[in-house]
Amino acid sequence: MYGFGNLPELIEFLSGTNNLEPTYIDISSVMKACSLYQDDFADVKGQEHVKRALEVSAAGNHNFLMIGSPGSGKTMLARRLPTILPEISFEEALQTTRIHSAVGLLNHGQPLIATRPFRAPHHTLSDAAMVGGGQYPKPGEVSLAHNGVLFLDELPEFKRNVLEVLRQPLEDGFVTISRALSSITYPASIMLVCAMNPCPCGYLGDAKHQCVCSPSQIHRYRQRVSGPLLDRIDIHVEVPAVPYKDLSNKYCGEPSIDIRNRLRSARQIQIERFKKDNFYSNAKMRSRHIKRHCVLNEDAQKLLEAAMHKLGLSARAYTRILKVGRTIADLGGTQKISAEHISEAIQYRTLDRGAF
Ligand SMILES: Nc1ncnc2c1ncn2[C@@H]1O[C@H](COP(=O)(O)OP(=O)(O)OP(=O)(O)O)[C@@H](O)[C@H]1O
Ligand SMILES: [Mg+2]
Ligand SMILES: [Zn+2]
Repeated sequence: MYGFGNLPELIEFLSGTNNLEPTYIDISSVMKACSLYQDDFADVKGQEHVKRALEVSAAGNHNFLMIGSPGSGKTMLARRLPTILPEISFEEALQTTRIHSAVGLLNHGQPLIATRPFRAPHHTLSDAAMVGGGQYPKPGEVSLAHNGVLFLDELPEFKRNVLEVLRQPLEDGFVTISRALSSITYPASIMLVCAMNPCPCGYLGDAKHQCVCSPSQIHRYRQRVSGPLLDRIDIHVEVPAVPYKDLSNKYCGEPSIDIRNRLRSARQIQIERFKKDNFYSNAKMRSRHIKRHCVLNEDAQKLLEAAMHKLGLSARAYTRILKVGRTIADLGGTQKISAEHISEAIQYRTLDRGAF
């Protein structure tokens, strides 16, 4: 490969008046140098329950919702999800770099983006900014997050039409922008992570602050996140504020690399399981895959049935629990889904349980 600083250099080279030496690029060392993350799960004190839920979500590619009061660490946790996803491949890094370069987001002198992107657009953004648009359509936030994480903080504040346009990319992994005479398609394969407060004032269920919201205000606030987008989120968890004794603890949490290594075999099991399908994660299973791959043992079946009746769970929640149960069993390296796996998956349906 040859590199040229300008056009005259290229012309001189082609006409044989300039003897340039070819350039060699060691892809693996460029990838290594560009694949370091600034953040690490070791920085997060406590929150073991949320970290475990994020691990399950990363293992099966399940979209994720956190519900917690201001300052409980939701943004901090979400930022660290890319650090436990599988290492980005060279092809993925090229795609990501190309998209960022198209909108001028590549830093000067940066050859490659080899970390999984994390995009956190503000809730005031327009639908065009979310999926791409303009006279000469540019990629939007969902494509800038391709191969990585799209984080929607304060989910209930996003406009409905902005959430609506996320349906295609969440379903298909790409987004099509239509114009009068043509249409353009950008890749948009993302993990969606959302965060919200438990109520409009933010402090419902908080040990230290009094919530000042009325039941109807709380109901209206929750209603704003119902519908098609919520249907595509398999895991919802509460994020309680961390007690001072945990924050002041000098011990670090488990580093991201250890968590990521633990996920490797669960990912491999899924690649093998879906090798004849055109997807590779439990989150993408449809009913026929669920029927085939989510076989429960007798205890698990009884537990799920009892939970459905007791908690009044919907058929939709039932499917989500089976998929997440499959991922938890994969993390444990077992073929059959047991009662223990199902009981953990039920805990990840906070909004269905009306638990807070
Ligand atoms: N578990 C934790 N370990 C270490 N630091 C923490 C933890 N939780 C919160 N913090 C500290 O508190 C700050 C605020 O956390 P963060 O911004 O993630 O909260 P949030 O839940 O997103 O709040 P908001 O609802 O206001 O957006 C973090 O930058 C971090 O310094
Ligand atoms: Mg935040
Ligand atoms: Zn409140």
